[in-house]
Amino acid sequence: MRTSGGNGAVRANSAISRRVIGGAAITALGGLLFGYDTGVVSGALLFLHHEFGGLSNIKEELVTSLLLVGAMAGALLAGRLADRIGRRHTILITATVFVVGVLLAAFTPSYAVLLIARVVIGLAVGASSLTVPLYIGEAAPPRVRGGLVSLNQLAITVGILVSYLVDYGLSSSGNWRLMFGLAAVPAVLLFVGILTQHESPHWLVEHGREAEARSVLARLRPADQVEPEIAEIRDVIGQGRGGVRELLAAAIRPALFVGVMMAVFQQVTGINTVIYYAPSLLHDAGLGASSALLANVGIGIVNVGMTIVAIRLLDRTGRRPLLICGSAGMAIGMCAAALAFVGGAHLTSGRAALAIGALVVYTGSFAIGLGPVFWLLISEIYPLRVRGTAMSVASMANWGANFVVTVSFLTLLTAIGGTGVFFLFGFLTLVALWFFIRRVPETKGRSLPAIEADLRRRQQQEPPTEQQLPPGPVGHAA
Ligand code: BGC
Repeated sequence: MRTSGGNGAVRANSAISRRVIGGAAITALGGLLFGYDTGVVSGALLFLHHEFGGLSNIKEELVTSLLLVGAMAGALLAGRLADRIGRRHTILITATVFVVGVLLAAFTPSYAVLLIARVVIGLAVGASSLTVPLYIGEAAPPRVRGGLVSLNQLAITVGILVSYLVDYGLSSSGNWRLMFGLAAVPAVLLFVGILTQHESPHWLVEHGREAEARSVLARLRPADQVEPEIAEIRDVIGQGRGGVRELLAAAIRPALFVGVMMAVFQQVTGINTVIYYAPSLLHDAGLGASSALLANVGIGIVNVGMTIVAIRLLDRTGRRPLLICGSAGMAIGMCAAALAFVGGAHLTSGRAALAIGALVVYTGSFAIGLGPVFWLLISEIYPLRVRGTAMSVASMANWGANFVVTVSFLTLLTAIGGTGVFFLFGFLTLVALWFFIRRVPETKGRSLPAIEADLRRRQQQEPPTEQQLPPGPVGHAA
């Protein structure tokens, strides 16, 4: 009897795990599209160059950067929408916008329509950058939430790598339309996949649909955890929905500040100068085109590989150790890259090897820390009633900072050279490290309502004189 009961429990638990992991994997297709659509343009540009009567540098820059502008708007709209109509419907709309955008780009009759298509794709990229971690985070059991939410970051890195490989594979035909258009496949899969999923239990409770929340949770948790979790969510709902004004309320400001600063640091420490420009940099440094592309694929593989390591560690070591060690590694990588460029942009083979090694150390360190931890933390530290809106603000800050760095990088490079730029990123990484050590809370293994209750309690205990999150891990709160 006992054995068959035990087997029954094991079977039930593995069905639960399958549903939780399956749902997270489907949702993470949004991350794949984020990575693919931001990565694909670097290769596509090589062939777009001669289209539409020839593209000037400015026209090329617009094709790249208008996606980032669209992403800011998408992040802004999606948070409010996710709070209002639900996470699931917002992702369904996002997938539809993805399909429309990539098809418009693939079949564009003119340069102007291509620009519109890039903005439309950007809207979807920005929307999915926050709805994916939000939705996965609310469905995930606390014990494994770090790894599951970071499937999103893994999907982003895989999307970037796949885009490099597609660009490389299609380079002989120069078929840039197909490069853009292939993204329609994961977009349709995302739409169909989300149709099979249920609304977030957190959102359902918040909207007074407790019976539905209970039945959704029953599919995602062992039976004895359903009622406590419902009660916990109900507890933190408090006085109802918070709008933009509430974001500035004293209780929420500290978390908002941490999220926005992490967003900005994730970008101003230079990741996308490597992701978007590494091949051009290495090519200019004297590497042949195919060696530069190969080195780039190598960087992409390290990015994916170290993200897998992070997923395995986030729920064991916690978020802070990875964030702190990863940021230290990024600073070392950037300073080594700066040294490789001392003496000019053209590198000897020894210094080219140092530059590639440095970029690999830098990217690997980003992938194990700041890459996944930023998107994870912003899905964890905000109170339920403003979660979508607050995540919007952090994601918008991320896309805004990405835009500023991306459009100014080449100008900066001309003005202060590789050494200057990389030392600047190295210095900013050290500032980020100092901030993370002082301000970023530990959230490992704690339920979202518990993190929220803790942040609030700490806030009440120590009335804020400035934007302040408890220094050190929240997890060690008394
Ligand atoms: C960042 C992106 C970046 C990617 C690289 C993400 O976490 O938000 O801007 O391109 O990581 O892997």
